[in-house]
Amino acid sequence: MSVPVVAVDGPSGSGKGTISRLLARRAGWHLLDSGALYRVVALAGRHARLDQDDIAGHAGLASVMRVEFTVRDDGGERILLDGSDVTGEVRAETTGQGASRVAAWPAVRDALMQRQRDFARAPGLIADGRDMGTVVFPDAALKIFLTASAEERAKRRYNQLKDKDSAASLAALSREIAERLRPASDAFVVDSTGVTVEAVLERVIELGRARALWR
Ligand code: DC
Repeated sequence: MSVPVVAVDGPSGSGKGTISRLLARRAGWHLLDSGALYRVVALAGRHARLDQDDIAGHAGLASVMRVEFTVRDDGGERILLDGSDVTGEVRAETTGQGASRVAAWPAVRDALMQRQRDFARAPGLIADGRDMGTVVFPDAALKIFLTASAEERAKRRYNQLKDKDSAASLAALSREIAERLRPASDAFVVDSTGVTVEAVLERVIELGRARALWR
């Protein structure tokens, strides 16, 4: 029997990262943070001193790099690249910009495809990222497309970024906000504008319950 996957897609600032993490914890399922994988590719490229525009080089690294996502004792995330802790670097704004560049290259997206699918292990997987329900797990048992008004997404992203090293943040922010993403045709669109995290989580848990994914 194949492992059930819940795909959580949506634009940045829609809360998909938060909801995915909480959902994985509640269900006791594995979590795939696909954005973190793109970030790690950009970082691996930097560590290997690749040229910023070296598509083949980055695609090669995407295939061979050793990545581990673990949890610290205090519950925080810990990301290892070839055995070294790169959590802080992965979350840096510059890495986000690098990730957005490498994520635009089909060769890198292809190289990460199987890696992402390998995260699907029993008892189930919560897959967070913009193409989870459309491309990586088209047969997902449940597809959620989280949205929020542009204003609310901008506000959330601004709050996430304001304490960081971000000169170019605002530009990146408005680019991301303007982006139009396509929900999978069989996705449930959940609007989180003005709704608490707990209420959004409950709604998603209810949708999964209706599909007998959990009790
Ligand atoms: O969500 P994030 O900031 O960690 O994502 C980093 C970058 O990777 C961002 O530019 C979006 C991109 N990305 C993608 O193209 N496909 C995914 N499945 C996840 C992220």
